[in-house]
Amino acid sequence: MSVASLPKVELHLHLEGAAPPAFIAGLAKEKKRDIGGIFDAGGHYKYKDFWDFLKVYEAATSVLVKPEDYHRLTLAVLEESAASGVVYSETFLSPDFCGGRDVGAWREYLHAIREAGDKAERDFGITLRGIITCIRHFGPDKARETARCAAETAGDWIVGFGIAGDEKIGAPKDFRWSFDCAREAGLRLTAHAGEWGGPDSVRDAIRDLGVERIGHGVRAIEDLALVDEIAEAGIVLEVCPGSNIALGIYDGWRKHPISQLYERGVKVTVSTDDPPFFHTTMAREYEMLNRAFDWDEGVFEGIARASLDAAFCDADTRERIA
Ligand code: ADE
Ligand code: ZN
Repeated sequence: MSVASLPKVELHLHLEGAAPPAFIAGLAKEKKRDIGGIFDAGGHYKYKDFWDFLKVYEAATSVLVKPEDYHRLTLAVLEESAASGVVYSETFLSPDFCGGRDVGAWREYLHAIREAGDKAERDFGITLRGIITCIRHFGPDKARETARCAAETAGDWIVGFGIAGDEKIGAPKDFRWSFDCAREAGLRLTAHAGEWGGPDSVRDAIRDLGVERIGHGVRAIEDLALVDEIAEAGIVLEVCPGSNIALGIYDGWRKHPISQLYERGVKVTVSTDDPPFFHTTMAREYEMLNRAFDWDEGVFEGIARASLDAAFCDADTRERIA
């Protein structure tokens, strides 16, 4: 049995970032929208660096203007994930892109995404859960509106709250109100940190936002005392190696710190982040890790178990998936 075919739990996937480029190109054509030169000659997303990636991401997202568009997107994304062996997907959803943080509109988008999730569960055997996400470079005021949308729709399949975007802008403490609001609404918490920022950025996110998971977090490796604190506290890292390598944070799979973090006792999980942007899939992530670190099925099964334990879903869902 190859590791690529193992059942997988994915905890870090951006719904818009998982949009197949052909899907976005098709929607742009249908809606007669010019989204500029965001594709290369082969029809793949084209960007120069992370900051350009964020712009291309937002340009691609600009064609998703109706709940129905998100319904189609969700089905396309979950079909791809299921084909890669994913049985459970926790997906970042942003009110910023779905109805401009208006609670009424947001509910309509969520309804459409939920219906697509139910269909994907029936047709492809994959379970969807949502993590509502504010965008750091949009600033703390918009994040507060996002947190209100999250608090209004928390529960059932909406299980978490998080923050993505440009880690170089602002500080975690600027978003404390939003995280407190989400926590009070019963949502579990995660934050992107330690991707473009170093160990201090990870420390700040843990201390100021009280998160139990960190998106990426890999640059904690630059401070082994922090790595030990993370391991001791049981904080889970949503590691996306292919994303880090495609964006130039690490110079190849063997240089990626996931193996060191794992060996030092950190609970690491594996995800794709924005798969078509980084030319990856969950099956490829597993395959490349297997090749780079000679990890066997036992390690991957351990990672799948850690991922399931760290999933924000309820116990019944966890049991059903296990
Ligand atoms: N949004 C989508 N992908 C992201 C990433 N890798 N880092 C921060 N924000 C993101
Ligand atoms: Zn991410």
